Amino acid sequence: MALLFDTHAHYDDEHFDADRDALLRGMREEGVGLILNPGCDEDSSRTAVALADKYDFVYAAVGWHPENCAPYKDASLDVLRELAKHPKVRAIGEIGLDYHWGENPPREKQHEVFRAQLALARELSLPVIVHDRDAHEDCLAIVSEFPNVRGVFHCYSGSAEMAKRLLDMGWYLGFDGPLTYKNARRAVETAQIAPLDRILIETDAPYLPPVPHRGERNDSSLVRLVAERLAQIKGVDTETVVAATAENGKRLFDI
Ligand code: NI
Repeated sequence: MALLFDTHAHYDDEHFDADRDALLRGMREEGVGLILNPGCDEDSSRTAVALADKYDFVYAAVGWHPENCAPYKDASLDVLRELAKHPKVRAIGEIGLDYHWGENPPREKQHEVFRAQLALARELSLPVIVHDRDAHEDCLAIVSEFPNVRGVFHCYSGSAEMAKRLLDMGWYLGFDGPLTYKNARRAVETAQIAPLDRILIETDAPYLPPVPHRGERNDSSLVRLVAERLAQIKGVDTETVVAATAENGKRLFDI
């Protein structure tokens, strides 16, 4: 049996404070072989690196999430550059744009922080993990300014048309719990056209639990349900999806 690679989980999140270590120690038994923990600001990036340092199967990304980027300043990039020297930091993320909530940082600020981090990824030859919520056109336009930078559009929520453009540009697409939801028409369409060698499976734990766990805390063991749904959509067996997505993650993040 191939082991699952959850390429997007936030174990630095306070929802795991009570049982983080017990949960992570049990992952192998749940069939999870690798986890990538992205950072969302300076503190969470530091914690992501510390977790990667502690667990051989955990890798880290460092970055400022668009929702959290209000305190970001020029010196913040130097801290990321320093943190990225750790051998288990394999990406800059999660970075991107989020226009969903009115109280999010202004768009101009989000654009500035996104561009600065894409430039850092280019400088360090690292892939990026992109968060795009209700900002599809601007995300596509800004990543297109960095033709040498590749990565994953995490929890992909754009159109199948935009997915084709990203795939042509060499990007990967991440699928999460929402793929299992009844109203997931767009994500299903995208999963149908995306080749299996360009798909990653993710939890975004503790958020976005798949069916039938909605309303509960998500964790990496539930990424199997995303693999099962993908297998159904693509008409292959789950084992094939688990093996392919793990290989894709290792290729993208150089593991
Ligand atoms: Ni996330």
